[in-house]
Amino acid sequence: VPTARWEHGSDLPLSVDVGPADLPWTARPHSLWGSGLDAMRALARWGTDRHGWRSLLVPTYYCQDILPTLADDIDLGVYERGPLDRRPASVRAAQGEVVVAAALFGGPTGVRGGPATVIEDHSHDPSSPRAHRSRAAYAVASLRKALPLPDGGVLWSPQGLPVPDGIGPTEAHGRAVLLRLQAMTLKHAYLQGADVPKDAFRRLYAEGEGALREGPISGISDYAKERLSILPTTRWRRARARNLRSFREALGPRRDVRVLDVPFAAVLVLDRPEIRGRIRRLLVEASIYPAILWPLDAPAVAGIPPEHLDLSRRILVLHADQRYTPHDMSRVGRAVSAALDAA
Ligand SMILES: Cc1ncc(COP(=O)(O)O)c(C=O)c1O
Repeated sequence: VPTARWEHGSDLPLSVDVGPADLPWTARPHSLWGSGLDAMRALARWGTDRHGWRSLLVPTYYCQDILPTLADDIDLGVYERGPLDRRPASVRAAQGEVVVAAALFGGPTGVRGGPATVIEDHSHDPSSPRAHRSRAAYAVASLRKALPLPDGGVLWSPQGLPVPDGIGPTEAHGRAVLLRLQAMTLKHAYLQGADVPKDAFRRLYAEGEGALREGPISGISDYAKERLSILPTTRWRRARARNLRSFREALGPRRDVRVLDVPFAAVLVLDRPEIRGRIRRLLVEASIYPAILWPLDAPAVAGIPPEHLDLSRRILVLHADQRYTPHDMSRVGRAVSAALDAA
């Protein structure tokens, strides 16, 4: 009988858990795409043709990976906004400039756009009350950050405006999805204790990720489209909130780390980059694999303030999603506490 393996973090394995999905776009004009980036590219092209959009203004603290490709479709600029800001940014957009307002880690978008057209990015908590309540002209989300899907992105109009029609999946996209589904399936088996070399699924995840980024804009896979509508999103959001409480309780009050009050994950802000490095190494030794969102050392756009670069070197993101029980998250909280004591 296989024994279950304990590890924490990194890529989401396959899930076959089902339930009713509560998604903010279903009753609104929307279309599904191959990835969050594909959704943004499709919207940018459409907005350029249809509404004369000239550029997108993105927050200075944002995912850099997607920007070089997005810049092929539309000019990019930045406005100053990061996850520690308390007051909303007032973004002055000129004619033709469209503001991308990101709900960073599922927190507030923190943008007062005035009369500008706003595209909200809900990738970190696509089924959140915040996404449901949105009154933005447009919204986008990647469907594979918070949800166990191999691919997928969505764009919708909270205001009920017309949006670009979706397209079918491309052949290149189909190959990428196959790689990612294989990776997710093998990781699931590995976590069950099956005899699968870790390298096998890690290589497939990496290849799949690379393949998703290649090729033209694609529609979503048939698999992700069907799977999306039967994900128990409400139950999973509740599980995440419980997990985050359990993590905080186990960590206890500390002066040497700040835990952001956001629903996506346990987002830690450490005092210094060296401490982040040491904590990360100690956690990896304990089979806990945190993420760094986002590295800003080689930004794709100019104008990143030094405080955001510094923050990007002190931040550590610990997953807290439906994969885990409060018991798992206590273990992670104790491991972080021990790592801080040792760092
Ligand atoms: C906030 C945010 N928006 C959009 C994207 C793009 O989504 P995808 O990776 O599905 O293309 C990402 C990640 O890459 C992201 O972190």
